[in-house]
Amino acid sequence: MANIIDGKAVSARVKEEIANETAAVKAKYGINIGLAVVIVGDDPASRIYVNNKKKACETVGFTSYEYALSADTTQEELLQLIDKLNKDDNVNGILVQLPLPKHLDEKAVINSISPEKDVDAFHPVNVGKIMIGEYSFLPCTPAGIMELIASTGVEIKGKECVVVGRSNIVGKPMSMLLLHQSGTVTICHSKTQDLADHCRKADILVVAVGVPKLVTGDMIKEGAVVIDVGMNRLENGKLCGDVDFDSAKEKASFITPVPGGVGPMTIAMLMKNTLTAAKIKHGIE
Ligand code: GUN
Repeated sequence: MANIIDGKAVSARVKEEIANETAAVKAKYGINIGLAVVIVGDDPASRIYVNNKKKACETVGFTSYEYALSADTTQEELLQLIDKLNKDDNVNGILVQLPLPKHLDEKAVINSISPEKDVDAFHPVNVGKIMIGEYSFLPCTPAGIMELIASTGVEIKGKECVVVGRSNIVGKPMSMLLLHQSGTVTICHSKTQDLADHCRKADILVVAVGVPKLVTGDMIKEGAVVIDVGMNRLENGKLCGDVDFDSAKEKASFITPVPGGVGPMTIAMLMKNTLTAAKIKHGIE
């Protein structure tokens, strides 16, 4: 039976550390730390994410600035807002909640965010820095996963690491972070010929594809660390991951639940990136 990795507890610890550091930085340097959150349209899931991000800002002592724009906002209007936020000294981080309505050019919007304020680490400059291992910000989900793996005490160095999924937001940066820690990394995707065979070799298995229960217990090596990034809504309304938790927990040594695993970490790492952005701006070590 696997140990369950408690993402809520790890996230609470990270946020507490950030809150303490924020209080110290504010007291010593007399600065405020601000995160601008931009949401376009009224997607209910995006609204929940944005509310949670604002709540986390309060918890750690940041000021959040919400810009809720109507669904028919033009590209020009959105770019103008980002330009204003790029120049605003009260704003240390800018987050544009994705997905954007179809008529907007997501890539152009991401590229318009100043890399110094790009707390999602989606801008090509920040993506490139991750590749060469010289980064200020890490994308929030992979960074959160690294914290969860660290919380198990399992060393990554020399281990077989398999990442299922090759998205720009999770799979690709995740693979780089594991590589930077000297893991031997395999990236699997929808065209991989024998997924089960690759998964069975993994000491550390990260699954981020958005297919409910794709990875089952028979595909998991005895004693593996299993990280499930999936967040799928089943027909019965229940949430489930990309890993079949019930069979996987019989094989893994550590496993993340869904919900309560990776999810809570993402916002904690967003707070960490925002604090980092503020420290860099003010030249604080
Ligand atoms: N939508 C879903 N996840 C994310 C995220 O990590 N960042 C942003 N900006 N939008 C998202």
